Amino acid sequence: MSEPEIPDHIRQHLALALDVDDLVAASRLARELKPWFGVAKVGLELFSAAGPEAFGVLQDMGYAVFADLKLHDIPTTVGRASRVLGALGVRYVTMHAHGDVAMLSAGVEGLNEGATNAGLLPPVAVAVTVLTSDRDAPPHIIPKRVRAAMEAGCGGIVCAGTDLDDVRSLAPRMHKVVPGIRPAGASSDDQARVATPRQAIDAGADLLVVGRAVTASDDRLAAAAAIAAELSD
Ligand code: C5P
Repeated sequence: MSEPEIPDHIRQHLALALDVDDLVAASRLARELKPWFGVAKVGLELFSAAGPEAFGVLQDMGYAVFADLKLHDIPTTVGRASRVLGALGVRYVTMHAHGDVAMLSAGVEGLNEGATNAGLLPPVAVAVTVLTSDRDAPPHIIPKRVRAAMEAGCGGIVCAGTDLDDVRSLAPRMHKVVPGIRPAGASSDDQARVATPRQAIDAGADLLVVGRAVTASDDRLAAAAAIAAELSD
């Protein structure tokens, strides 16, 4: 079967969440879904199983790598971990905005330092505002966390599709990453605040994190193709 040709600007909006516990399975998914996704996301599950080797394998396949490690610790520890991550050639690294300005700043500096030492471009530090599974986050928390991320020099924000209007008005230039993506009618699983791919892009998302809507589908290729088609309309 010939490979579908998806315009690169659409693929660069789509991050594949490789939430599996083994690198062989992750590589198989990544290879199969490569025509539709430009970014591969390594989260806690895959990183716990395979460590930084997962980044290299995905980079060798041509993916931009999203290290979704949601760093949250004292500033020194986050800074030092970020220095390591900054030297690994990944494009995005997440850290919890709940850690506040000192921790986020240490993360940003660590990423820059690690990348500079390795002769690479620094990854974008992406601050996680509120988990999309959180049903009870009070409304004032998003602006507070977006402001902390801006003050610390983060380049991106993770937020729910439903929070994009607020985030866009506060941080128009930050890269907006949106998980909890579900095509119309799909199961929302444990995600409380979901958006369709089109809704998220129309509301200003730059990068959509797509996991189970594709990876748990009976027909993964058709599910991925439907998302790409929705964005091409
Ligand atoms: O399978 P699903 O599309 O729900 O996967 C969502 C992915 O996005 C998971 O890898 C999860 O860790 C991540 N994520 C999230 N909510 C955030 C940040 C990241 O669901 N606020």
